[in-house]
Amino acid sequence: MDHFLYRDGVLHAEDVPVPEIAAAVGTPFYVYSTATLTRHFKLFDEALAGMDHLVCFAMKSLSNQAVLKTLADAGAGMDVVSVGEYLRAKAVGVPGDKIVFSGVGKTAEEMKVALQGGIRQFNVESEPEMEVLSAVATGLGREAPITIRVNPNVDAKTHAKIATGKSENKFGIPISRARAVYAHAAALPGLKIVGIDVHIGSQLTELAPFEAAYQKVAELTEQLRADGHEIIRLDLGGGLGIPYARNNEAPPLPTDYGAMVQRTLGHLGCEIEIEPGRLISGNAGILVSKVIYLKEGEDRQFLILDAAMNDLIRPAMYDAYHDIIAVNQGDAGAEPATYDVVGPVCESGDTFAKGRAMDRVGPDDLVAFRSAGAYGAVMSSEYNSRPMIPEVLVHEDQFAVIRARPTYEEMIARDTLPEWLVSD
Ligand code: LLP
Repeated sequence: MDHFLYRDGVLHAEDVPVPEIAAAVGTPFYVYSTATLTRHFKLFDEALAGMDHLVCFAMKSLSNQAVLKTLADAGAGMDVVSVGEYLRAKAVGVPGDKIVFSGVGKTAEEMKVALQGGIRQFNVESEPEMEVLSAVATGLGREAPITIRVNPNVDAKTHAKIATGKSENKFGIPISRARAVYAHAAALPGLKIVGIDVHIGSQLTELAPFEAAYQKVAELTEQLRADGHEIIRLDLGGGLGIPYARNNEAPPLPTDYGAMVQRTLGHLGCEIEIEPGRLISGNAGILVSKVIYLKEGEDRQFLILDAAMNDLIRPAMYDAYHDIIAVNQGDAGAEPATYDVVGPVCESGDTFAKGRAMDRVGPDDLVAFRSAGAYGAVMSSEYNSRPMIPEVLVHEDQFAVIRARPTYEEMIARDTLPEWLVSD
């Protein structure tokens, strides 16, 4: 459920008419709903209520500080994958003991910043990383809390580019080697083993792959405890999917997920951490764009928008489906039209949808891409020298720009000319 609904034929973000925001900030732009963000966070929080737990928002999915603050105020921790994300989380006051650090390529410098600023745990992904962390922690006279990410070799049944739990993927250590790697970690100074970490992929639409992975984690917990390790925390990653198309069957709800976690891991008495990104932020955001032209092709109509692949890369990168709807519903009885929906960027990959049956629209009309909150703004670029688009946050009947559109001058001024090119 989200808070982007029509009222009197006009799409609203909570209580704000979307055309009002468009008039204030220009198109294209992203708009997020506070109510949807907090509702989705609370669904997870309540789903795990029977267990000691922390929901750490995977901020890679949407990292604007206003969004982070909204979620942190609701009680969320953060899952970060770079020192940049770590500093963003700290900048809005998330305490270090609510931040977990994931990722296969943490550098010594990143480890140092997190150890000095405070960290709940590092989710370590390899033995070389473990050795570097040991050296960094020892050098600072500190102890680094760690889990080790295991790769359970489970098929997440999702898009190949976002599956992470098979042995061919770069993530984690093979679960078959886990006992040896934990023994190695226990022998290194400066590390404190606190638990196990697993994350098998993103946009999962079934519970079965999670359950298969978590069962393996349950078995491993018993084995590692028998080996003498203290396993007090299980980080179960993120990955629960969302319905991108209105007519698709909805993926399992956080409540079902929570019940499954309780069933497979509850008996172990561990603290549970999860790292959902998309399910919290995905349906909490839309991308609003304006139609520039309607162009007649030989056998098709191209709807040319002012948003492009640099603003929302998911369709080009993963063949992702996003619902595209008219902001003003117009004549309720109007026949839907079929368009190839494209942006102005100079490559054919700049296509949002092919042969899409959707609301009939024309030049200057506004359209909205639904479910664009996750992996939308964060993956955007300035390709074709198109400035990054603004982000807006809505709270009931108020809205605020939470990242402004840079001017062309600001964008261009970031380049510098070397001395030898500057003539006197
Ligand atoms: N934890 C770890 C270690 C992850 O790698 C990820 C996502 C998450 C949590 C959050 O997963 P979520 O709950 O959002 O599914 N750009 C792609 C998705 C990449 C996901 C990367 N890792 C997309 O647009 O579909």
